[in-house]
Amino acid sequence: MLVLFDVGEPTSLDDDYTEDLKSPDWKTERHVLHALKVLGYPFAVLGVHNDTGLIREMIGRFRPDVIFNMVEEFASSLGNEARITSFLELQGIPLTGCGSAGISLSKDKTIAKKILSYHDIRVPHFAVQPPGRLIKLPPELDYPLIVKPTREEASQGISLKSVVNTPEELVNRVCHVHERFEQDAIVEEFVEGRELYVSVLGNDRLKCFPAREMTWRKDVPSRARFASYKVKWDNSYRRRWGIRNRHLPTADAPLQRRLATAAKEIYRLLNLKGYARLDLRAASDGDLVFLEANPNPMLAKDEDFAMSAKKSGLDYPQLIGKIIALAA
Ligand SMILES: Nc1ncnc2c1ncn2[C@@H]1O[C@H](COP(=O)(O)OP(=O)(O)O)[C@@H](O)[C@H]1O
Ligand SMILES: [Mg+2]
Repeated sequence: MLVLFDVGEPTSLDDDYTEDLKSPDWKTERHVLHALKVLGYPFAVLGVHNDTGLIREMIGRFRPDVIFNMVEEFASSLGNEARITSFLELQGIPLTGCGSAGISLSKDKTIAKKILSYHDIRVPHFAVQPPGRLIKLPPELDYPLIVKPTREEASQGISLKSVVNTPEELVNRVCHVHERFEQDAIVEEFVEGRELYVSVLGNDRLKCFPAREMTWRKDVPSRARFASYKVKWDNSYRRRWGIRNRHLPTADAPLQRRLATAAKEIYRLLNLKGYARLDLRAASDGDLVFLEANPNPMLAKDEDFAMSAKKSGLDYPQLIGKIIALAA
């Protein structure tokens, strides 16, 4: 097996990652490699930055039966995820996770919503605002709105200021996204409601794990309840706002069933394979609203995907084993 992961600088075939793997930033890689040892899979590793030649050399050297793919960017650009995945697919070796087709459809914050709304799955109304154009909103878009960069992930560019209530706030935030991220801004109807994460595993036969929910302290207003960058990554901020990721309470079994049905349908429509986490909101009228599909979500043991799998009885090495079996 060949394990590939992102590295922010040029790499070489014999790089030793022992020291890097000790850092908190390398948690996912550390957990996956440990699981491979537990499972007894012999593996080689390669950090990928911007050199496809190295990948070919590594394949020539090790003749891996499977590639465990944790590469999400190429040359430091997330926009290259589908391209590097296509390149790996062309090597003719079974690849873990989602294929390039599903990644292309999901990672564009507009295309996924267009496909799903065609199939009558509720998505937030949205409009795209390219840099340097007059800002004109379609009539169905009503405040509050949320403004995001179109091509980022991990809540990059999302803060409390992203939710806007007036035209002035909207213009300021759209300009901020253009300046800071040099890309289009997407303006969406802000969906107030519970924030839910549904993890799905499979290619044809799908397994949907028990959903997870992000919760806030009771006194936090619903318009401040969303997963900004700080909410996701700043532990002291999480403590201050009483933010937790938890399993759904047992009383939510009916919601759980609706989530599973919706998640499987979305997974198929977006051509997802391997494993993915779907982010939805339960709007105040009870409807489920699709927010985002995350093919190849973070696999660290304490992240929502593995926590959901564990809740359904799969321990971590078993989960990694299933992901490999789905590739082969
Ligand atoms: N239309 C929306 N309504 C309500 N909350 C939203 C909306 N869009 C995004 N959010 C909040 O922002 C978070 C991150 O948005 P998302 O589109 O998933 O970007 P990223 O790719 O950075 O994760 C979501 O998990 C959710 O909490
Ligand atoms: Mg997201």
